[in-house]
Amino acid sequence: MIYLDSAATSLYRPPEVARAVSWALMSMGNSSRGVHEAALAGARVIFGTRRLLADFFHADGAEQVVFTANSTESLNMAVKGLLVPGDRAITTVMEHNSVLRPLYEMTAKGVRLEIIGTDDKGRLDMASMREAIYSGAKAVFCTHASNLTGNVNDIRKIGGWCREAGALFVLDASQTGGIFPIDMQGDFVDVLCFTGHKSLMGPQGTGGLCVRKGIQIRPLVTGGSGIRTFDKRHPLRMPEALEAGTLNGHGIAGLKAALEFIQAEGVDKLRMKEEKLARAFYERVRDIPGIRFYGDYSAAERAPIVALNLGDEDSAEVSDWLAEEYGICTRAGGHCAPLMHRRFGTESQGIVRFSFSSFNTMEEIETAAAALRAY
Ligand code: ALA
Repeated sequence: MIYLDSAATSLYRPPEVARAVSWALMSMGNSSRGVHEAALAGARVIFGTRRLLADFFHADGAEQVVFTANSTESLNMAVKGLLVPGDRAITTVMEHNSVLRPLYEMTAKGVRLEIIGTDDKGRLDMASMREAIYSGAKAVFCTHASNLTGNVNDIRKIGGWCREAGALFVLDASQTGGIFPIDMQGDFVDVLCFTGHKSLMGPQGTGGLCVRKGIQIRPLVTGGSGIRTFDKRHPLRMPEALEAGTLNGHGIAGLKAALEFIQAEGVDKLRMKEEKLARAFYERVRDIPGIRFYGDYSAAERAPIVALNLGDEDSAEVSDWLAEEYGICTRAGGHCAPLMHRRFGTESQGIVRFSFSSFNTMEEIETAAAALRAY
């Protein structure tokens, strides 16, 4: 099997991740629910992971890092916990349904939504973004990179405009956390939503948000938190304010090991390897007759994705053929990115998306390129 679907989820992980999950399954008690050795072992791992993430994203401290099951939950929390009827929000056609659907729900409750478009290469219309931000908004919800095209947004610029205009900047880092440096302070990010199972190389079921100190988000769920048991209200103290119930401690233990691996390797080294593989694949297939690419392949910085179609062939047919004939795993269809597909006119054809991991090899790239030529 050649796995080229890492934008959907990582398959290749450092072995330390599996070892950490296995250790946690056998050793971890419930963090914040006791002071016996097993509970403390859980608390140490979870706090240690918060601290690593806070360092990683330059957040305001370990207590400002909240764990969720994935970035969908984080984004729902940010959208529904920040906006109230009458607010104006800004987003983009590059977003995933995990941003769009919660925002559409809020428009039914009286939130006004402006959606910023792209050019025909899927590049964000920055002039319109700037104008929209300076026209006044409660919050901007924007992805760092499109999960369909791999195009990367200039988040420092968008964050700077937001800070100056008094809008909150909520960043969806699902496709970039782990391979692109993200600096919440320098990039003016107020809320960063991440998933653990993509480039962060942790287990599925891990994710979270980093919230700038002082920003109040209403929780999506309330319940047990291990503190202030006799209060009728869920605690307001972070991170418990946005966490209820037992955390996925076993998954978080795996995420911690993955973060330690990434720190030891270096984000830039991992990204450069993935970019090199993605570019090598693009160079080897770009002259296939009738091939069409989606995204800006001349950009200096790209998430490691190559999105394409072969003439008018249905994307699912191509993707299935690659899987059946060569064991090559890609993702076809709509990628939960409806507005980006509408922009390209690929709602019914879909797009075949190849996405790369630092664990892929050049040999796999050669095989995948030759396979696509053979279609
Ligand atoms: N959001 C994931 C993707 O892009 C699942 O494939």
